[in-house]
Amino acid sequence: MLIVGIISRKGGVGKTTLAAALGVEAASRGRKALLLDLDPQGSLVEWSEAREADSPGVAPATTDTLSRLLDGAKRQGFDIVFIDTPPSIASSAKAAAAISDVIVIPVKASPNDMRTLPKTMEIVRPTGKPYLLTLTQTIAKARLTAESLALLSEVGPVAPAIGNRALYPAAMIDGRSAQEIDPGGPAALEIRALYAQILHHENQKTSKPK
Ligand SMILES: Nc1ncnc2c1ncn2[C@@H]1O[C@H](COP(=O)(O)OP(=O)(O)OP(=O)(O)O)[C@@H](O)[C@H]1O
Ligand SMILES: [Mg+2]
Repeated sequence: MLIVGIISRKGGVGKTTLAAALGVEAASRGRKALLLDLDPQGSLVEWSEAREADSPGVAPATTDTLSRLLDGAKRQGFDIVFIDTPPSIASSAKAAAAISDVIVIPVKASPNDMRTLPKTMEIVRPTGKPYLLTLTQTIAKARLTAESLALLSEVGPVAPAIGNRALYPAAMIDGRSAQEIDPGGPAALEIRALYAQILHHENQKTSKPK
């Protein structure tokens, strides 16, 4: 079972949106996918309540219940779990980072967001876990996007970027994800690309001696 933590100490960077989209992507590819909502705001749980489809599974979690929930998920045959985390509770971000096989760090292409990245890296780096930085809500051809990408690549491995697209929030209204509304569109392509990069770590995990 691959555990993917989605972590950023900055609010509003797209953690919850990505968790939903990645969970939908995994489920649509036949995986038994679970989303754990570690954010007491419960946005992901609310999203799932608005959702018609049964998959991916979604459950609320706390730092106390996280490891028990993951054990249960493994027993129930889930093979991929995405953990959505709150920006302002360091202990939650730490717990998720420590238990993840790979960490996704969404970063918005703005100077303020870039400045808070070290705060996130302070949590991620000590775990020694592999991580992927992904630029979110990017505006194509904007100079800031190119500059931010250059800065990010100095910090660590950079995964495919996620564009600033009205479809992401629009899809969340009735519990869907962008690629379910426009399966061949740019959002679908970028989510697929990010998902593929995440799965690369699953292959590395299974090829490691136990
Ligand atoms: N790629 C995108 N394009 C356009 N809007 C987006 C995109 N990703 C997220 N949003 C919107 O930005 C806002 C913040 O997104 P989201 O809630 O996913 O971020 P978050 O990191 O989970 O926030 P928080 O830290 O508060 O939990 C939401 O209104 C969401 O719909
Ligand atoms: Mg969120």
